[in-house]
Amino acid sequence: MTEITDELVIRGNHIKNRIVMPPMVTFSFHGDNGSYYGKQHIEHYTKRAKGGAGLIIVQATSVFGAIDSTGMWSAGDISALKQIASNCHEYGATVMMQLHCGNMDINELSTEEIHSMQKNMKRAAIRACEIGFDGVEFNFAHGFTLCKFLDASYNRRTDKYGGDVLYRARVLTQILPEIRNNTPKNFIVSVRMGEHLPESKDGVEAAKAFEKAGIDLLHISFGMQPPTNPVPDGFICSPITYSGCKIKKEVKIPVIAVNEIRNEEQVRFLIENDYVDLVAVGRGMLTDPEFANHVINSEPVNTCLGCERCFWFTDHTSCPAESNK
Ligand SMILES: Cc1cc2nc3c(=O)[nH]c(=O)nc-3n(C[C@H](O)[C@H](O)[C@H](O)COP(=O)(O)O)c2cc1C
Repeated sequence: MTEITDELVIRGNHIKNRIVMPPMVTFSFHGDNGSYYGKQHIEHYTKRAKGGAGLIIVQATSVFGAIDSTGMWSAGDISALKQIASNCHEYGATVMMQLHCGNMDINELSTEEIHSMQKNMKRAAIRACEIGFDGVEFNFAHGFTLCKFLDASYNRRTDKYGGDVLYRARVLTQILPEIRNNTPKNFIVSVRMGEHLPESKDGVEAAKAFEKAGIDLLHISFGMQPPTNPVPDGFICSPITYSGCKIKKEVKIPVIAVNEIRNEEQVRFLIENDYVDLVAVGRGMLTDPEFANHVINSEPVNTCLGCERCFWFTDHTSCPAESNK
């Protein structure tokens, strides 16, 4: 039986336990001196690393600007991000950065525009490595640009970025060798994606295509839309979490499951039954920075109240669970 405190080694990185902080944009935070990232972010991620998370995936960071040091890649941003990576390491967490390509209509993009985006993706990954991150996660989930490439019904391209799954995944797989050639052997490249793209078989095919191309880790959330299928009797987590468990059966690389995992029972259920390799706890870690340590020690957690619209999307200071502390 796998224990939640068992380490997991990915490309030589020893992830100290099975609890992950998934990427979450801290919308109401501000940077310092005009930068996007700053002290508030450093403190936020340091607290969750101190709170025991084995792997921290820093929030979606746009790849655009990585080439010319603009956007979220200014000198001030780099210095804050360096501090985040180093503080997470100090507390023994593995730390990755989620890379995001905005929300474009991929059917309207010219081949040159795709190539330019790929250059930014490559540069952003290499830059994240130079800053001190252990890896990057490309966001192919939640209906954004990369998700639209992968979804078999959304992608209507007739060139080599549409059609067969190998082409729909190519926006990343084509540049993966260049990322590998410019980063050390232990640099993790991961993909966050959904299962229903739009059918379950499409997600399975995409997961296998990424595995075959050399992606190290899959983080299964949802694609263009969250799934609504019921979960089997006795499965105590959500349909999105169940997607992660289904993909896990189809690939040999490690899989992270996520969504509405809020308590010790669910974390243990998923890991101790080997449904997945890692579990990500988002809002639960916003309301309880010590979530991982609390679960590991079977202590009570400061539970996310599951508000209809999470206040962290607008103003984290209004989060009722946070202010209850
Ligand atoms: C405030 C907030 C910001 C988020 N930002 C991102 C993001 O940057 N990238 C991403 O892939 N998902 C993002 N998500 C989704 C989370 O990573 C996670 O999948 C989702 O919250 C479900 O997990 P949970 O029920 O444990 O919170 C965000 C969620 C929240 C609540």
